[in-house]
Amino acid sequence: MIYHDLVDSIVAALEARDQYTANHSRRVSDMTEQACICLGMAEEDYENIHMAAHVHDIGKIGIPDAILSKPDKLNDEEWSYIKMHPQIGADILSKSKTLQPLAEIVLHHHERWDGGGYPSGLKKSDIPWGARIIAICDSIDAMMSNRVYRKALTSEQCKREMAKFSGKLYDPQIVQCVVEHWDKIVEPIYINQQEL
Ligand SMILES: [Fe+2]
Ligand SMILES: [Fe+2]
Repeated sequence: MIYHDLVDSIVAALEARDQYTANHSRRVSDMTEQACICLGMAEEDYENIHMAAHVHDIGKIGIPDAILSKPDKLNDEEWSYIKMHPQIGADILSKSKTLQPLAEIVLHHHERWDGGGYPSGLKKSDIPWGARIIAICDSIDAMMSNRVYRKALTSEQCKREMAKFSGKLYDPQIVQCVVEHWDKIVEPIYINQQEL
C-alpha cells in the first residue's frame, strides 16, 4: 500500500535526522493504537490516527540541531522554535494528497483540553479527536523517559499525573480509558525499562 510506504519513508527521514524523536514516535504510536482499540474504535477509523502518531513530531526535522539536541533547559527564543514543529509537520504532510488527512491531527497534538496549548489554543472537543489521544500518549512517553535534567517517573507516578491533569490538560474520557487499560496500553512499552 502506497499510503504506508509514504509514512515509512517519512519515518526513515526522521530516523536519519534524530534517533531520539524516532524512538519516541514509535512508542507513542504503539500506545496510540492500543488506546484506540481500548476506546472501542474500528481499525478503519483509527488507522489515520495511528499513522499520525508515527509522524506527529516530523516537524522537528525543521528545527536547528543546536536547539533540538540541546541538553540544558531551553530559553524563550529556543522554545518559540520548538513550538513551530506542529505547523512545520502539518506543512510537510499537506504537500501529499494521500497524507493530507494526517496534517490536521499533527497540527493540533500540542493543544490542551483547557485551551492553553499551541499552536491554536483550541479547547475541548474543538481539538481533533486523534490529536487528543496522541497528546496523552505523547505526555506519557515524556514522563516515562529519562532526561538529562530529570529521571523517568515510575509507571505508578505517571498514572497519578495523568489522573491529576485529566480535564485540565487532557480529555477526561480518554484519560479514564487509558488509566483503566494501563496494563495493555502503557506497561508493555516500558516493561524492560522498569525492570532495570
Ligand atoms: Fe510534539
Ligand atoms: Fe512527541
